[in-house]
Amino acid sequence: MSTFGILGAGQVGTTLARVAVAAGYDIVIANSRGPQTLHDLVRELGPRARAASASDAAAEADFAILAFPYAPDHRLPVEELAGKVVIDNNNYMVWRDGHFPEVDSGRKTIHELRQEQLPDSKIVKAFTHVQFHERHPIRVPEDRQPAIVRLARPAGHPERKALVASSDHPEAVELVTRLYDDLGFDIVDNSPLSQSWRSAPGTPMWSHAVDGQSRDELIRNLQQARHPLG
Ligand SMILES: NC(=O)c1ccc[n+]([C@@H]2O[C@H](COP(=O)([O-])OP(=O)(O)OC[C@H]3O[C@@H](n4cnc5c(N)ncnc54)[C@H](OP(=O)(O)O)[C@@H]3O)[C@@H](O)[C@H]2O)c1
Repeated sequence: MSTFGILGAGQVGTTLARVAVAAGYDIVIANSRGPQTLHDLVRELGPRARAASASDAAAEADFAILAFPYAPDHRLPVEELAGKVVIDNNNYMVWRDGHFPEVDSGRKTIHELRQEQLPDSKIVKAFTHVQFHERHPIRVPEDRQPAIVRLARPAGHPERKALVASSDHPEAVELVTRLYDDLGFDIVDNSPLSQSWRSAPGTPMWSHAVDGQSRDELIRNLQQARHPLG
């Protein structure tokens, strides 16, 4: 099994580290403050996990995720991630990140901007509409699990849910297909990256993020999305 570089150790990064280790992946995880701050997490995760600086994690990874918001002035490990599949799970949140005129005008998606930051990597939008925290409101005890755990089902299960992916690189979608499957989800390929606005916050599919949607429902909801600029 290949090494999964998880850059970002907040709600998404730590939860994804737990489910990836449980699925048999080796992970190397980083935050912005340094590996010494991740000692307790790595001890909890066991021998499949280690912590590193963001650049070392990027260098050691076979593929990676950027589990933190987009910012135009980010200094990312561009060379260490060159040639690799890099998952971008950021959602464009104006209240948190401010306005990006190219996205507001509809000229680009937030994920195309990420691809421009890492021109030699294979960016794929994934994991953006599954929650890495407990359900709100809690109805039954299992709602305390993050949705990435609560909604996971084996292939062929009647309640199996699907997650979306968008990329300009088919091999990136293939990798995410395997990863989703290993974690208990089907995939809907909504490529290329320029189409990824169809799964942005506020779209029809987005309103089903809490309890998930089947592959057919997700395809239908993506088709029903209307571009914000008409
Ligand atoms: N939470 C969810 O359920 C969810 C679901 C789908 C998508 N998302 C998206 O996932 C992203 C992360 O969300 P979150 O809730 O996990 O955020 P979060 O809890 O604020 O965590 C962000 C993490 O990223 C780290 N970080 C920031 N800049 C970094 C850099 N340049 N290199 C390495 N690590 C860096 C931070 O490190 P420090 O703590 O050291 O600063 C922190 O560990 C967001 O873009 C969000 O839109 C979230």
